[in-house]
Amino acid sequence: MRRSQDTMTRLNAAISERFGEHISLPKDVLNADELARILEHRSQRAFTEKPVSEALLRFLFACALSAPSKSDLQQADIVWVVDPPAREAFADLIPNMPWVHSAPVFLVFCANNRRIRQIGEMRGKPFANDHLDAFMNAAVDAAIVMTTFIRAATVVGLGCCPISAIRDHAKAVNRLLALPQWVFPVAGLCLGYPAREGQISPRLPMDITVHVDRYSEDGLQQKIEAYDQRRHVQQPITKQRYVELYGSAAFYGWSEDKARHYSRPERADFGRYIREKGFNLE
Ligand SMILES: Cc1cc2nc3c(=O)[nH]c(=O)nc-3n(C[C@H](O)[C@H](O)[C@H](O)COP(=O)(O)O)c2cc1C
Repeated sequence: MRRSQDTMTRLNAAISERFGEHISLPKDVLNADELARILEHRSQRAFTEKPVSEALLRFLFACALSAPSKSDLQQADIVWVVDPPAREAFADLIPNMPWVHSAPVFLVFCANNRRIRQIGEMRGKPFANDHLDAFMNAAVDAAIVMTTFIRAATVVGLGCCPISAIRDHAKAVNRLLALPQWVFPVAGLCLGYPAREGQISPRLPMDITVHVDRYSEDGLQQKIEAYDQRRHVQQPITKQRYVELYGSAAFYGWSEDKARHYSRPERADFGRYIREKGFNLE
């Protein structure tokens, strides 16, 4: 299939904006438009008021739940939060993210390790895999389903923003959604028609994140500093975190922001919540 010059330009521009580098594109890529959409991914936090029809939403659920699933166990569930008081309750939990309130649709992607235990009971078999892997497999399935949902939504012109901040309030979410034992929220998702085009967010260069044969950290600090500089030009971080603790940095790049971010505990009680959900994390 021949690619139009436009698609080529889009692919090159997106890779360059994302990674700050050019890679030579293979000649025989099929469905390059689809790949351009993947490369141009951006989270959307501003939405028009245009509603998303139930038919479209249910179609996207079908696309998302067609994702691969660890051992075919199908451990991902989606909760569509429709009830206005419940929507308000989510917005109130996370007031610093107003898109939770303004998004036409709000979903919660859950990991479900309950069903396989119920199936064991139904079939009179013991559940012999009660260890960390049970938690991880269910969480991974939910994440893959959410990612597939985002991809499908993007194809039909919708925009999404995942919301892991709901896990800061895991017990409240548990109550709101009536989640039983062994079912836990992985992330919320805001969905709607984007009000703005949005911006490609630069990623670390692939010579940090792609390894051949052996894991390598060669030149990590220099590469991260170069990334900070590139990212600062494209997408400067305008608000410094924890100035009262660390002062105001003359140059405030991505790595300074992430180091400050993770210098303070967040969600330290999530492990307890997961254990209380019945998981053995050994
Ligand atoms: C699992 C997950 C959880 C996220 N949680 C939040 C969130 O709570 N609030 C938010 O505004 N964005 C959230 N995001 C969006 C990220 O901030 C965003 O993906 C990142 O900044 C990169 O930007 P991009 O998606 O536009 O490339 C989340 C993304 C993922 C994958």
